[in-house]
Amino acid sequence: MDKFIQGCMRIKDMSVAQVRELIESNLQAGINVFDHADIYGSGECEILFGKALKEDPSLRDKIVLQTKCGIVKDLSCHRYDNSTNYIVDSVHKSLNRLRVEKIDRLLIHRPDALMNPDEVAKAFDRLYGEGVVDSFGVSNFSGSQIELLSSSLRQKIEYNQIRLSIVHCPMIENGVNYNRYNDGGVNRDAGTLEYCRLNKVQIQCYSPFKGRQKSFIGDLRYAKLNKLLKELAFKYEVQPNTIAAAWLLKHPANFAVINGTTRPQRVEQIAKAKDITLTRSEWYELYLACGRKLP
Ligand SMILES: NC(=O)c1ccc[n+]([C@@H]2O[C@H](COP(=O)([O-])OP(=O)(O)OC[C@H]3O[C@@H](n4cnc5c(N)ncnc54)[C@H](OP(=O)(O)O)[C@@H]3O)[C@@H](O)[C@H]2O)c1
Repeated sequence: MDKFIQGCMRIKDMSVAQVRELIESNLQAGINVFDHADIYGSGECEILFGKALKEDPSLRDKIVLQTKCGIVKDLSCHRYDNSTNYIVDSVHKSLNRLRVEKIDRLLIHRPDALMNPDEVAKAFDRLYGEGVVDSFGVSNFSGSQIELLSSSLRQKIEYNQIRLSIVHCPMIENGVNYNRYNDGGVNRDAGTLEYCRLNKVQIQCYSPFKGRQKSFIGDLRYAKLNKLLKELAFKYEVQPNTIAAAWLLKHPANFAVINGTTRPQRVEQIAKAKDITLTRSEWYELYLACGRKLP
């Protein structure tokens, strides 16, 4: 199972040389999965990545390419489209932009209120049959939405990409506040964590360092959390972002952390989380340092 994925949502303003350096730094850190979406940079992120692959074709065999589709940028039309033709067309456009013959993993970016699971199934069958997509997943889906979709699919849903971090974890909060009247007791997760664990759907945590507007790392609005992150970083001889990633990796659901940094040095820092096992007490102290309470 993946522990880390490099997110490519923020690479739009990088040069091709910088993108190559980012790819190389991930490979050196043992990270070989790269996450895209057709809409990142309105297609520019995939184009840039494709240019990097063209400059060094040997990279293709060393990496796992993941992309997403289903969010429509043209607001004059509508917001989401999980119809057969839309999915198939979007994947072919991504293949062109990335300059590859195959996408290793395709994820449906968001549930479309008008989604017909049979239509998604047709798209997956066509793409799998053409040999242009190897495996499938979703993003921002609840467990029951995955179950509904899966009832029509021949392929397994392998991944669910969800916003999850030490400061944003309603799925974890709900689990420890079940049947309580407090805010944590509000079920915002609909049992998705349990569904994914039971059905071996790996949760990919997006925005693992994002707070309000910017990263919570070093943000004084999260003073207590940052103080503890610093103390633990000192103890384990790493950086605070390493500890925030280790907090996610400690969870027995085997989450994958999708880091969105554009800086090779931070990739190296984050990847060190695989060598750190926080104690139970440290894990809970970090949870509480975000201003939460436990029953
Ligand atoms: N499925 C979805 O709906 C969805 C939504 C959002 C994102 N995603 C995916 O998830 C990936 C990650 O999301 P994200 O970019 O929001 O995640 P993130 O890793 O939480 O945020 C990265 C941002 O935090 C900044 N940052 C500041 N201090 C940092 C530190 N000490 N360590 C690490 N980063 C620090 C980074 O700046 P620097 O670049 O300067 O380091 C970068 O701008 C995206 O690239 C995309 O692939 C998916």
